[in-house]
Amino acid sequence: MSEARASDAPLLACDGVSKFYGAMAAVHELSFEVKRGEVLGIGGPNGAGKTTLFDVITGLSPASAGRVAFGGRDVTGLKPEQLCHRGLVRTFQLNAGYDTLSARENVLVGSYFGAKNVVIPGLRVSAAAKRRAEEAMDLVGLADSRDAIVKSLPVYKRKLLMIASAVATEPKLLMLDEPVGGLNPHEIDAVMGVIKRLREAGLTIVLIEHVMRFLVALSDRVLIMHHGEKIYEGAPEGLVHDRTVVDVYLGAGTADRLKHLLETKGAA
Ligand SMILES: Nc1ncnc2c1ncn2[C@@H]1O[C@H](COP(=O)(O)OP(=O)(O)OP(=O)(O)O)[C@@H](O)[C@H]1O
Ligand SMILES: [Mg+2]
Repeated sequence: MSEARASDAPLLACDGVSKFYGAMAAVHELSFEVKRGEVLGIGGPNGAGKTTLFDVITGLSPASAGRVAFGGRDVTGLKPEQLCHRGLVRTFQLNAGYDTLSARENVLVGSYFGAKNVVIPGLRVSAAAKRRAEEAMDLVGLADSRDAIVKSLPVYKRKLLMIASAVATEPKLLMLDEPVGGLNPHEIDAVMGVIKRLREAGLTIVLIEHVMRFLVALSDRVLIMHHGEKIYEGAPEGLVHDRTVVDVYLGAGTADRLKHLLETKGAA
């Protein structure tokens, strides 16, 4: 394959992915691709299967059917750490971290264990791993909280900490599950700035979010799920004109507000 064609190949490809819990299909025969450098936003009602899709892609939960390819290779069935070492990482909808460690120590865990397979004993954190951790904290704006114990941090900073820990692994694809869930408008704007910086730094991003102004502002393309299936895939601008999306997810009020936002965005 020529260099140009190789870089055109999707970074992530899901082909007919399903996940059953008993008789219920949390994800049902879902196929989509993510191009390098792209931001794909995923939305959909509560229980639509968004997090389950992340769990399957990132190896946390085995797929019931279908294949996942990353960087052109079949990675179906690989463990989360194997995927992480190949450059595919995610954050979680609920805050996850080591509560009694400092922010810096948390990010160092990502930077040390995430970049390659390491075996303890003989744990010596290299200068490169320390540098990656510091850079990740700077990038997300956590510089002033490096030494804070994580359980004392507010939700906003804990969200940033998860992103920094993921970024410190030097991923190619970053998957964010509701990065602004529970945050106030000012904090949402700040996280939006962080995501833009990550994108400019060359990361490909897939993000799940219910905050539509965030999803629409950041995403090149949007995929909306309902009952485990894809009901929309395309430009953010098309969301408000899609009858099914408006009926099952947005509602008329949000659709109107979003329409206004998109018109203003277009004019800006
Ligand atoms: N481990 C599990 N065992 C059984 N059912 C599960 C499990 N995890 C998720 N489900 C079910 O799968 C469906 C999809 O859940 P999921 O958490 O993926 O939805 P979601 O789109 O992320 O919703 P939200 O927007 O509320 O986060 C739901 O009906 C949920 O109850
Ligand atoms: Mg979820």
